[in-house]
Amino acid sequence: MLADSYGRVATDLRVSLTDRCNLRCTYCMPPEGLEWLPKPELLTDDELGRLIRIGVTMLGITEVRFTGGEPLLRRGLPGIVGSAAALEPRPRTALTTNGIGLARMAPALAEAGLDRVNVSLDTLRHDVFEKLARRRRLDDVLAGLAGAAEAGLTPVKVNAVLMRDVNDAEAPDLLRYCLEHGYRLRFIEQMPLDAQHGWRRDTMITADEILDRLSAEFDLAPADAATRGSAPAELFYVDGGPETVGVIGSVTRPFCGACDRVRLTADGQIRNCLFAREESDLRPLLRGGGTDAEIAERWRAAVAAKRPGHGIDDPSFLQPARPMSAIGG
Ligand code: GTP
Ligand code: 5AD
Ligand code: SF4
Repeated sequence: MLADSYGRVATDLRVSLTDRCNLRCTYCMPPEGLEWLPKPELLTDDELGRLIRIGVTMLGITEVRFTGGEPLLRRGLPGIVGSAAALEPRPRTALTTNGIGLARMAPALAEAGLDRVNVSLDTLRHDVFEKLARRRRLDDVLAGLAGAAEAGLTPVKVNAVLMRDVNDAEAPDLLRYCLEHGYRLRFIEQMPLDAQHGWRRDTMITADEILDRLSAEFDLAPADAATRGSAPAELFYVDGGPETVGVIGSVTRPFCGACDRVRLTADGQIRNCLFAREESDLRPLLRGGGTDAEIAERWRAAVAAKRPGHGIDDPSFLQPARPMSAIGG
């Protein structure tokens, strides 16, 4: 079991498969991209498979989510998913992606054992997409969403980060689109995880603001809080339900007290929190003849040291050295 000193147990493993991406979202990366991790630093498919096996069979992991960077850029993705889905007890499997290439990959991923996907979609307008993601790929993303639904990677969830004066006015349109297509939309508060350190507390769009904007056009009623568990999204029934819209208020409505996550970066570091100040490197054991038991023990110790919360509002808060694309979303 992966327990920390605040009584939380990590059962949700988020595995970053690469720090690279084919978009350049302004809330994430500069236009020129970042200095990518060198290939030898990355875990191989076999190393990933071994760590996921240790997590699931020795440490109580029940859900494995693949992230990035953009995880569809990892060539061995279907094989990696397949080896996770073949474990006993079988973990639930999910993928968080920008959707580019998903239309083509969805059938193979479903076949390999992927259960569901979350796709980022911040706008439905080509000009805004280009401004926000600095590429003209909106149609690929929309095709990816449709392909995922068709391949049965459901429920398909959509993540939208709202940026003031860029796409915030589009919130109701995004919701209408997702309701029409059967996707579960969640709006996300922007967090201080961008490589350029451009995040500002006083200009971010808050959960309250998101709800105000949506309420102007939809009737929202809170879903039963008792069913939320460790989910980051607070759900609201739209116009009487059963469809819902979610708000992920990481900054103004933190959910750290119920957190059940632990992260594995593409270069083999265990991070006990998105905002952790320390990482625990599993590669020396992986590559130096360490046993499964030794790896499990180091992993347990890393989770045991987890802090109670992200501390974004603390005066001493420091943005993590790694940006979100290198940590794993
Ligand atoms: P499901 O609801 O199970 O599908 O997962 P999810 O919502 O956690 O997954 P996803 O990868 O789609 O993440 C959506 C958003 O949740 C991210 O953009 C973050 O804003 C937020 N999030 C994910 N993990 C964490 C975390 O560990 N801490 C905080 N504060 N926010 C997180
Ligand atoms: N704050 C909040 N969410 C972010 N994402 C990327 N960067 C940030 C940030 N700084 C989102 C992506 C994706 C999810 C994994 O994280 O849009 O949907
Ligand atoms: Fe790529 Fe995701 Fe970062 Fe956008 S937010 S640049 S899709 S890693």
